[in-house]
Amino acid sequence: MTGRELVVIPGDGIGREVVPAAVRVLHALCPETRVVEADAGWDCFQATGTSVPEATLDLVRQAGAALFGAVSSPSYPVKGYKSAILTLRRALGLYANVRPVRAAVDLQPPRAIDLVVVRENTEGLYVGRELRAGDQAVAERVITREASLRIGRIAARLALQHPSRKLTVVHKANVVPLSDGLFRDSVREAVNAVDENQVLQVDELLVDYAALKLVQQPEAFGVLVAPNLYGDILSDLAAHWCGGLGAAPSINLGDVHALAEPVHGSAPDIAGRGRANPAAAMLSLALLLRGHWGMREEADLLEDAVAFALRSVGGDAGTEVITTAVIEALGRVTSSV
Ligand code: NAI
Ligand code: MG
Repeated sequence: MTGRELVVIPGDGIGREVVPAAVRVLHALCPETRVVEADAGWDCFQATGTSVPEATLDLVRQAGAALFGAVSSPSYPVKGYKSAILTLRRALGLYANVRPVRAAVDLQPPRAIDLVVVRENTEGLYVGRELRAGDQAVAERVITREASLRIGRIAARLALQHPSRKLTVVHKANVVPLSDGLFRDSVREAVNAVDENQVLQVDELLVDYAALKLVQQPEAFGVLVAPNLYGDILSDLAAHWCGGLGAAPSINLGDVHALAEPVHGSAPDIAGRGRANPAAAMLSLALLLRGHWGMREEADLLEDAVAFALRSVGGDAGTEVITTAVIEALGRVTSSV
């Protein structure tokens, strides 16, 4: 296949370490893929006044596929600043964040964990409408039927492909019945439409108990679908089973473009020291290979190589050691076929 192009957006902090590592692995696996680098993030905002330059959006729209590292966001208001990843998701119509969780290679005893958190990516509290009046602050949490239907459709399709054929709708409709009730009912409506033959086992859980069950009994889950913030929190929690944030991948999907993105952030506590685990970025790339470019074989090879490398050197071995181990593992597998 020719003409395949990937835009890489390293961003801030360890994004600048794990994305180049993933690009090295991509060059080893698919040397014909053209890689173009683009800017976004907090440093970009400070230098240019925007966290996502129009040129970055144009590049991703042209290529259709991107790998994003991580960005730093201040936890206080900054005039004119908008989170780069939220801007990218919104501008590119990336309404679903898909976060597969498989048991870490070194989990003892081994466990049969294979679940996917599907997070609604465009609304909830992430619409960013906050108001402060004296000692009171209010944040609007928006749920729409349209966004809930489309996340329900994608979750149902993923659950039909998942070996468990299970789908759990996560909400808190006992406390916010209008908004989470609308989410739950719309998701169920979309699932019924997609799953015409009623193959799926669909249930629902309140988000607090879903969190406990993800700790106690992660094997019980197949695909979970949740509003934005619940999905964000549950997927960090579930990342524990992948072996931590350093090994937890995700992909943002819409109807046209795809943007792969490790679940972790810019990790300022370890940035610039070569300590970041690049596995999450590499596994996110594998999701892009399989889900966006239909390159199942290459995606499987990459996932196997990452698992092999983590087993042999460990997730704390540092970016360079892990990257070299993955490239060596890829060489071993590709030369033996
Ligand atoms: P974080 O994910 O950056 O770090 C949490 C902890 O996990 C830290 O101790 C870090 O060292 C460790 N960690 C994360 N990734 C790792 C890796 N690949 N290898 C080894 N250790 C790793 O989350 P935190 O600290 O809450 O946020 C830091 C910054 O990242 C903030 O500015 C936040 O806004 C931003 N952030 C950005 C995200 C994105 O770009 N999508 C997502 C989450 C946070
Ligand atoms: Mg998060």
